[in-house]
Amino acid sequence: MRRPLVVGNWKMHGTQASARALVNAVLAGISGVSADVGMCPPFALIPVVADLVGPRVWVGGQDLHEQEAGAFTGETSGVLLKDLGCRCVIVGHSERRTLYGDTDTRVAEKFRRAQACGLTPILCVGETLSEREAGSTEGVIARQLDAVVDCSGIGAFADAIVAYEPVWAIGTGRNASARQAQLVHGFIRGRLARRDAGIADRLRILYGGSVKAANAGELFAEPDIDGGLIGGASLKADEFLAICGAVRAWTS
Ligand code: PGA
Repeated sequence: MRRPLVVGNWKMHGTQASARALVNAVLAGISGVSADVGMCPPFALIPVVADLVGPRVWVGGQDLHEQEAGAFTGETSGVLLKDLGCRCVIVGHSERRTLYGDTDTRVAEKFRRAQACGLTPILCVGETLSEREAGSTEGVIARQLDAVVDCSGIGAFADAIVAYEPVWAIGTGRNASARQAQLVHGFIRGRLARRDAGIADRLRILYGGSVKAANAGELFAEPDIDGGLIGGASLKADEFLAICGAVRAWTS
């Protein structure tokens, strides 16, 4: 049985004061939550969050550079994320792919770099609306996954998380239905199972894209949806806690 995981992606939101208030409010309500919980603040807020959360909450980066170090102005290394107390890092978020030119190859290199630094990568995959309407959802997801498998091998997925985030659902208020999401989650697990059934069975696959308290329970009830990657709703403590509380029961 896979232990559910709910991760907040704060994107470019927050200040030191608002981060402290949000973390403290989440911590105040977290005792009844059985899921693993993570928070990915903007880089500069990582020390503020890491200082407050303790071991109960995973802290993660929203991205990292694929090289270990070097003349890359403005970038952040996996080594530094690890040093600051991060446990995980998002790679291949659709905003990075679309706005910052992260190709499948670069995402695969970032995934590999994350693991080399002792970070668990949260690999985001997902199709655009036009790709869905053209019937190429599975082809797109397969291409995004295969780039990582070809670079790091299927064994790398023993310590990784995958997040299915349909681009048309991110920040739009229009989530994938539970059935739509389950179909893609099942496809992801099945594709990886062809390489290693045990690893695919143990892999946590999160859903992301307009998750809120009102739809989380329905999504998380699906057999292959093991939690969520939460954007906007992770900025409100009550909403985020309600989503964390909506995960399905699990036994270790
Ligand atoms: P959203 O974002 O929950 O605001 O749709 C999800 C994400 O981008 O990870």
